[in-house]
Amino acid sequence: MNDQYAVIGNPIGHSKSPQIHRMFAEETSQALDYTARLAELDGFVESVESFFQHENGKGLNVTVPFKEQAFALCDELSEYAALAGAVNTLSYRDGKIYGANTDGIGIVRDITQNHHFALADKKVLILGAGGAVKGVLKPILDENPALIFIANRTAAKATTLADEYGDQIQGGGFADIPEQGFDMIINGTAASLQGDLPPIPNVCATGLACCYDMMYSKKGTPFTEWAKQHNVTLILDGLGMLVEQAAESFFIWRGVKPRTGHVLALMPDL
Ligand code: ATR
Repeated sequence: MNDQYAVIGNPIGHSKSPQIHRMFAEETSQALDYTARLAELDGFVESVESFFQHENGKGLNVTVPFKEQAFALCDELSEYAALAGAVNTLSYRDGKIYGANTDGIGIVRDITQNHHFALADKKVLILGAGGAVKGVLKPILDENPALIFIANRTAAKATTLADEYGDQIQGGGFADIPEQGFDMIINGTAASLQGDLPPIPNVCATGLACCYDMMYSKKGTPFTEWAKQHNVTLILDGLGMLVEQAAESFFIWRGVKPRTGHVLALMPDL
């Protein structure tokens, strides 16, 4: 039996991970199976244990709403997973469960390598202070931006999160955003899901070079539309991040780095 891998979540039907990982496996000639696995909302731990102990499961990608439960389940954590408080990649080796979080590596690679936009010395505004943002902060910080400001609807969540990083990151409500231009805005709120645009002060668009919506939508999001209206040159959505985080998970499991260009090119049609 091939080594078994899966993405686990609830719901899971919409996930593109099986197609992405099957393409990676084919390209790198790795004999493995990758499926989508629905866990009951109160049955995540049982499902993971069954997969690893009885179904030849070697690795799982974890998605909504189980990333924090996955974090709690691990015997060992990567640095990024420990800081994020969330795990999107589980590996099973010698009876132990290892947890990693590849979301931050995914977004940084998409921005800096796929789109050649260096984060070093840039002024970065991040919208949102939930799980999605927590998962990517440290890898972004490791690129040495000039400043990071986290703005959130509930200001206290942003200040608490920023405080975890000392004076390297500032945070507050949307009204507290410093009145200045930013080089880049990353939208990590769930606003796009609801068809909403976070209240970004117009002054933030001055000199703005890149906008990144961590959410993906074929027809664009309110945030990417906002970016278009302000003539932002580089406007990206979460599709590239999805492929790059998958590639890093694949590397953790198999020790081989899949190429992502051909998968990225096919993604909008999957
Ligand atoms: P996720 O894991 O996707 O980050 P989450 O932890 O529930 O989900 O966080 C959702 C984020 O989107 C939060 O920052 C939330 O703001 P609050 O902390 O104030 O709730 C933000 N959010 C959700 N809907 C929003 C909207 N319509 N406008 C602005 N921010 C929104």
